[in-house]
Amino acid sequence: MRDNESKKIEEMEGFKNLRIVDNFYQTSAFFPMPTTEIGTLNEDGKTNLGSYSLCFPYYIAGKEYYAMMLCCRNSSNTAKNILRTGKCTINFISDDRKYFKEAVRLGYPGETTDEKMKDCLFTLVDGKRARENQDEQYPKIVKEAFQVFECTWVKELDNAQDDKVQEEYLPPYHDFNGITSQYGAHFILKIDAILMKDKYHDAIVNGVKANCFPQVPVDYGYRDSKNFWYTRFKKPIAEPIPDNKGIGLDTVKYAASRIDPDVSFTDEACAKLVKVPRVFLNTVLKSCVAWAKENKVSLITEKEMDIINDKRNKEKNK
Ligand SMILES: Cc1cc2nc3c(=O)[nH]c(=O)nc-3n(C[C@H](O)[C@H](O)[C@H](O)COP(=O)(O)O)c2cc1C
Repeated sequence: MRDNESKKIEEMEGFKNLRIVDNFYQTSAFFPMPTTEIGTLNEDGKTNLGSYSLCFPYYIAGKEYYAMMLCCRNSSNTAKNILRTGKCTINFISDDRKYFKEAVRLGYPGETTDEKMKDCLFTLVDGKRARENQDEQYPKIVKEAFQVFECTWVKELDNAQDDKVQEEYLPPYHDFNGITSQYGAHFILKIDAILMKDKYHDAIVNGVKANCFPQVPVDYGYRDSKNFWYTRFKKPIAEPIPDNKGIGLDTVKYAASRIDPDVSFTDEACAKLVKVPRVFLNTVLKSCVAWAKENKVSLITEKEMDIINDKRNKEKNK
């Protein structure tokens, strides 16, 4: 009887309930993750590489800076080095089997920087920050990476500025930045620079095609007490937004006519905005008006829309 009841509870429409345990993303789930090598400076000023997949965008817009979140064991070289120097590089590696093999080697806990970096497959070179600030020390970047984020830990968030390297971490812990549990640390990392290999830089600035994506692996983590599992890259698929999601010229014209008394839009200019989702329309119109005022323009035509779009692309390019 009891068995039947618990069976009913655990089976729902083909789903079964699963116990949520430590490291649930790899022990109780299939969670797609990036593969990165994080470069940090050890006490001798040498670059240490550690493998990290729990590294995701955190502040993506609307703040004064952009940031990533790294989730990390607090006894790792990486955590200690970030606590001490606040600097790191996030190097995204492609799906080449020899690179992933090396990532697994660099992901083995307990080795010193000298031990793990002695025969490292990856080539370490100076990043943008090191080139621009010759008298400061920065962790190197991985030359084989397809993209690199150069980052600085925002230690003031969650009041983590006084967190120091210790043998053991006792409570109280921070909620989301610095030392966050007995074994854990989280780092909110301000992105100082994004460095991209030429081919992919070109794709981002001039528009992507299916054949110009980097070969990004998907890491599924450490799953059977033996292996890290990952999949190789497959050609990406473009899925256009549905035709009926456009907002219609009349809606754009109506919104454009009410956005600012001193700036108006031609019908052709409005036609360029019919694919913008309704919820973003006012924001986009406001940014056009801001550009118009800055450039002393009172009528936005197709030509001005192209300039505004071009400016956005250039900003991406910068
Ligand atoms: C592909 C891969 C991804 C990993 N991702 C993480 C992660 O996101 N967070 C973490 O704490 N450890 C992760 N590890 C384990 C660390 O790499 C491991 O703790 C290693 O000792 C860190 O190196 P370090 O001490 O030089 O920082 C990962 C290991 C591999 C192989």
